[in-house]
Amino acid sequence: MPLARNLADATIVITGASSGIGAATAYALARHGSTVVLAARTEPALREVAGHCRELGGRTLVVPTDVTDADATRRLAGTAVAEFGRLDAWINNAAVGTIGLFDEIPVAEFRRVLEVNLLGTANGIRAALPHLSAAGGGVVVNNASVLAEVAMPYQSPYNAAKHAVRGLSDTVRQELRATGRGSVSICTVLPATIDTPFFRHAANHSGRQVLPPPPVYPPEVVAETIVRLLRRPRREAYAGGAARLIGMQWRLAPALAERVLGWYGRYTQFGPAPTADTTGNVFRPDATATTDGGWHGRRRHLVRISAAFGLAAAGTAAALARRLAR
Ligand SMILES: NC(=O)c1ccc[n+]([C@@H]2O[C@H](COP(=O)([O-])OP(=O)(O)OC[C@H]3O[C@@H](n4cnc5c(N)ncnc54)[C@H](OP(=O)(O)O)[C@@H]3O)[C@@H](O)[C@H]2O)c1
Repeated sequence: MPLARNLADATIVITGASSGIGAATAYALARHGSTVVLAARTEPALREVAGHCRELGGRTLVVPTDVTDADATRRLAGTAVAEFGRLDAWINNAAVGTIGLFDEIPVAEFRRVLEVNLLGTANGIRAALPHLSAAGGGVVVNNASVLAEVAMPYQSPYNAAKHAVRGLSDTVRQELRATGRGSVSICTVLPATIDTPFFRHAANHSGRQVLPPPPVYPPEVVAETIVRLLRRPRREAYAGGAARLIGMQWRLAPALAERVLGWYGRYTQFGPAPTADTTGNVFRPDATATTDGGWHGRRRHLVRISAAFGLAAAGTAAALARRLAR
């Protein structure tokens, strides 16, 4: 079910709103006149995002929150309702990443990525549900990743958490329908690589500079997808054409797609500069209210992109032909 109200009258919580896609989504909703409740750990950055939202026409409330804290996340929902009378939608967007081989990533970091990306999303859904039901319906949008469907080397905890977010979304959706609460929609977004500060925020144990694997799409592409889902909820939506293509290849020819993406991830995620190990923003806030990461139209490795997609497309076509012939 779509939002019970127009976007202009809706109160919407966004986690991870101090940077990147969360800030871009806040701006997109503010342009529609929505009331946005902004949550993340970095209060000054949240205040900056809130100021820009107000300039764009939205009402705002800043509630610094660490989404791994279930009680704090419940208080976030309660504060939104106390201030604006109701809650219409909740966007679970906060996440962190750590880059490195599975056996090089420290255990504490692996655990923390799962805590923020998976348990933080569960905390958000749990906090939102009673208020959305009380409002007569609403929408939860879980911003996952195409890495909820496919895998990329050097990102094992992120991949694991995002696959789990997809499963969690599907299960909660089933349960809501089965218990007569289908007026609350649960949507999952599967974005391709997005031009945000994420790759600078991430912890890094690879020894090399981390780069976003191209093609890279602007954060507004995801923000627009989220706005569309609030108006017309669907189970899942890709953001960025490459995500849809990779997802299709993974479904049709999984063994080939796994090999191609493994090779592609290995050769496109790193720059030449040696880099010291860092824990990035995994344990401490580090947001600066910027939406983009400065990777505009990263076009390097065009030959590799073309080769990888060409190879995967040929394999997908062969797999499709085999299926049709059966
Ligand atoms: N960039 C991409 O290529 C890409 C692709 C697919 C999906 N996504 C997804 O898009 C979402 C947004 O990422 P982004 O690219 O915009 O990265 P980003 O700029 O690093 O934003 C991440 C946000 O999460 C917040 N956050 C981190 N830990 C938190 C915690 N414990 N509690 C509350 N907030 C926390 C950060 O703010 P504080 O530091 O202030 O807490 C920040 O606002 C994530 O779910 C990510 O997985 C990104």
